[in-house]
Amino acid sequence: MEDKLNKVKFILHKYNQEHLLNFYKELTNVQKDKLLDQILNINFDIILHLYEQSKIDVLDSTEEIEPLPYCIKSSLEPNKLKQYINLGAKAIKNGKVGVITLAGGQGSRLGFNGPKGTFYLETNPKKSLFEILCDYIKDASKKYKANIKWYIMTSTHNYFDTINFFEHNNYFNYDRNNILFFTQENLPIIDTNGKLVLSEIYKINFASNGNGNLFSSLKRNNLIANMKSNKIEWLFVGGVDNVLLNPLDPSFIGYTIDSKCEVGSKTLFKESPSNKSWVFAKKDGKPAIVDCENFTEEISKIKDSKGNYLYRETNMLAHLFSIKAIEKMSNIELKYHRAFRKNAFVNYEGMKQVPDSPNIYKFEQFVFDAFSYFSKIALFRVDSNKEYAPIKSFNGPYNPEIATERYTNLRFDN
Ligand code: UTP
Repeated sequence: MEDKLNKVKFILHKYNQEHLLNFYKELTNVQKDKLLDQILNINFDIILHLYEQSKIDVLDSTEEIEPLPYCIKSSLEPNKLKQYINLGAKAIKNGKVGVITLAGGQGSRLGFNGPKGTFYLETNPKKSLFEILCDYIKDASKKYKANIKWYIMTSTHNYFDTINFFEHNNYFNYDRNNILFFTQENLPIIDTNGKLVLSEIYKINFASNGNGNLFSSLKRNNLIANMKSNKIEWLFVGGVDNVLLNPLDPSFIGYTIDSKCEVGSKTLFKESPSNKSWVFAKKDGKPAIVDCENFTEEISKIKDSKGNYLYRETNMLAHLFSIKAIEKMSNIELKYHRAFRKNAFVNYEGMKQVPDSPNIYKFEQFVFDAFSYFSKIALFRVDSNKEYAPIKSFNGPYNPEIATERYTNLRFDN
């Protein structure tokens, strides 16, 4: 242990992180060993490089971006829509479509203790977010008489809680062989002075490294091979918290297949020109979602000759990737974005403190950064009233009460 300790001290001194051993003398031998191992497994070069890099904020500029074509579902001719629905339905029926749910987030804005998918909606009967998703998959499986594989990505932290929840609920009566869980990776979080943070006096605080870690995690867990052996050709990728998200919408699947694109994404129309949501656009000639905070009003007003807005399509985290696209992305390291979040930490007196406002940075890869690795993308605008009711926090616009009401109206009153 002495050798290990010396090695760790050397590393911490090199990276100016000696505070991580502030409470070392108070720990039991098991705790000491755990902490030393944790430190030895951290790549400080990577995390501190990300921290330094992220201090340089780069905003997209109007000169660099160009519009992307999109299709508005509600404006489609009935025959055209039917054609897409038939094409998508055929792919589902033939077992060519799988579902990936991104459930590795911390749900920090909601502040719910446990995996977000286990959060219950006050519907009658009560339903968890996981059950709501499973219902959509079960319905499609029944309707199309298909075996639909469901891949669920969790964090290392909530992996067992997630599996136990499914066990406890008998996999919501869906065939458990069709549900596969896997973990994504994580990174240490860091405070505003560039210091790693303790979650306990013997433990460093890690957070999931963003939903864009999906691709490499699928590869690491050998799931791309699993998808191929199941003859899956398309993977729907969506979040865990939008209660109106139907992962098996044949019109979207059919539209993407028909477009001959490797990637498709549902979009929502940005109603207010001053809304700062990132928008779909070509950046450096490639599909992307761009942060145009400083010029959002300006570009929101630009229309084409037919009167269609060019930069009003926003992301709702509902994508379709071909298996080839997934495989390609699994060999590419996506860039990291920095998020400023609220996180409990151990203070200099060794006391656990819960902050009132954001206090730490975490580094995340985003699934949508994959788009720029393709020459085109099939954008399919849908109606936010029918398809978008996520749960993000108790107080904001995306709260459980509104989500429950909208889910109840659409799902039970039809
Ligand atoms: P959000 O960015 O909304 O994160 O993730 P969140 O965890 O739900 O909530 P906050 O931001 O901490 O308050 C959108 C989707 O991506 C998943 C989430 O589980 C959610 O379904 N996600 C996010 C991951 O799978 N992994 C991550 O590392 C981050």
